[in-house]
Amino acid sequence: MNYLSPSILSADFCELGRDIALVEKAGAPYLHIDIMDGMFVPSISFGMPILKCVKKRSGLFMDVHMMVAQPERYVEELIELGADGVTIHVEACDCVAQTLAKIRALGAKPGIAINPETPVSAVLPYLGMVDMVLVMTVHPGFGGQKYIAECADKIKEVRRIIDEKYPDVKLEIDGGVCLDNLQMNLEAGANVIVAGSAVFKGDIEANVRDFLKMMS
Ligand code: DX5
Ligand code: ZN
Repeated sequence: MNYLSPSILSADFCELGRDIALVEKAGAPYLHIDIMDGMFVPSISFGMPILKCVKKRSGLFMDVHMMVAQPERYVEELIELGADGVTIHVEACDCVAQTLAKIRALGAKPGIAINPETPVSAVLPYLGMVDMVLVMTVHPGFGGQKYIAECADKIKEVRRIIDEKYPDVKLEIDGGVCLDNLQMNLEAGANVIVAGSAVFKGDIEANVRDFLKMMS
């Protein structure tokens, strides 16, 4: 089973409710919420008030991607506000195991993310604790970047490891994913697909339908 997770970072923030209704109507199951702190990544996106509003308007699975240093400071509040999945970066946290355990104890699904330059070995100790591994396919911080081709091998490597030992763990990819490289990424083993600009530019409903058709 594959899941599409449109990233609202590329939505029209003046029309956020409308844009989310469109992806929901077209059948996307997840909504990807990119929280950036200006420390772990250079940019600042948005935070708690947006999640709170979006959760009220949408029944989609809130897939929260924390690009935040010391994410343990915020997981409780995010889950209270409606995060269904909380993914933290292995590079951003000194207490990864405790934070993942806290996310689960608070009733959300924990995920662990790695940047393009981080080796897969960095997440191996945590695979038994997570619902999802997120392999970044761009350097985190901005939407609309070009997919880094070398990341395909990393997706395959993670797929091989989770198939062997943790078959229920999902493999999410994020950054530069579009209809042109979707098939290759599915074949590499990704099953949660984040797409920002490829969904929110142009005809949102048609874009979601095109993704879902290829992913079914
Ligand atoms: C990038 C974010 C992504 C971003 C993807 O740091 O984590 O989720 O919104 O945007 P696209 O699909 O346009 O690369
Ligand atoms: Zn993201």
